Amino acid sequence: MREVDAIVAEALAVFAGIDDADRLEQAKARYLGKSGALTGLLKGLGKLPAVERPAFGSRINAAKEQLETALREQRSRIQERKLEASLKEETLDVTLPGRGLGGGGLHPVTRTMDRIEALFRSMGFEVADGPEIETDYYNFTALNSPENHPARSMQDTFYLADGKHLLRTHTSPIQIRYLESHRPPVRIIAPGRVFRVDAVDATHSPMFHQIEGLWVDEHVTFAGLKGVLIEFLGKFFERDDLRVRFRPSFFPFTEPSAEIDMSFGEGWLEMGGAGMVHPNVLANVNINSEKYQGFAFGLGPDRLAMLRYGVNDLRLFFENDLRFLKQFN
Ligand code: PHE
Repeated sequence: MREVDAIVAEALAVFAGIDDADRLEQAKARYLGKSGALTGLLKGLGKLPAVERPAFGSRINAAKEQLETALREQRSRIQERKLEASLKEETLDVTLPGRGLGGGGLHPVTRTMDRIEALFRSMGFEVADGPEIETDYYNFTALNSPENHPARSMQDTFYLADGKHLLRTHTSPIQIRYLESHRPPVRIIAPGRVFRVDAVDATHSPMFHQIEGLWVDEHVTFAGLKGVLIEFLGKFFERDDLRVRFRPSFFPFTEPSAEIDMSFGEGWLEMGGAGMVHPNVLANVNINSEKYQGFAFGLGPDRLAMLRYGVNDLRLFFENDLRFLKQFN
């Protein structure tokens, strides 16, 4: 019995002196494990006289329980100390600024398109839309460019593999689509992406944007076209020194046709094309050109954005480098 007491006393002292969870389990094995000190005593039970066995057995079991309890307590003490230590160590500074959510912003071309739409809406225009994948009919034929007409080569087109569809080369097909489902008076703009086989440089890209304009009614005139465009450009740039010039040009779907140029003083910049809707185009959508006339224009919003923001290279708009884009938000 004295041996049991000695082992228990020793084990309790050893457990109490350990402050590491792994080492505590190793110490447990030394007393309670298969070849531990207490287990060893239990194995010797058979050598004792039969009368002494029960008392000795229960003494050992009591000692085991005592050690188990001590172990449990020591385990939780170790855990508590560990937690306290880490709380002291890992100070949490609640005054640090948060990481924040990176707020996005609108692309400068999108901002420009929105601004253009708002200005035309204020002049009574509605906004229409059309598909980027078009048929030859809407992109060319209905716009008075018959097959094999040389004017088609003005626009180098991306054709789809089916040979029937193409990426629209301009927003003018929306003129046809809209007039197929609406009767005059019609006053719309139609913004969107257009595509042409074009080498990339500071002012060209195979994808760019256009804003189509169309006004069809009785008594629509070229003077009205000039008035609308001059009014729009003046409002868009908010400058009084702005000059606008209409240079004679050719488009199959307008007659007469003009190129719209603009100047802030030095040199002229081309902003788009325009003209009176060709009677053949009106006929293609069953509108009587004796009664109705129309004007149409196509503006380049990428150019407008470049001028407004002082950007000298169109490619910057489409590379989407955040260092560039951030400046607009
Ligand atoms: N669609 C023409 C182009 O892309 C521009 C234009 C539109 C010209 C409307 C006249 C009228 O070049």
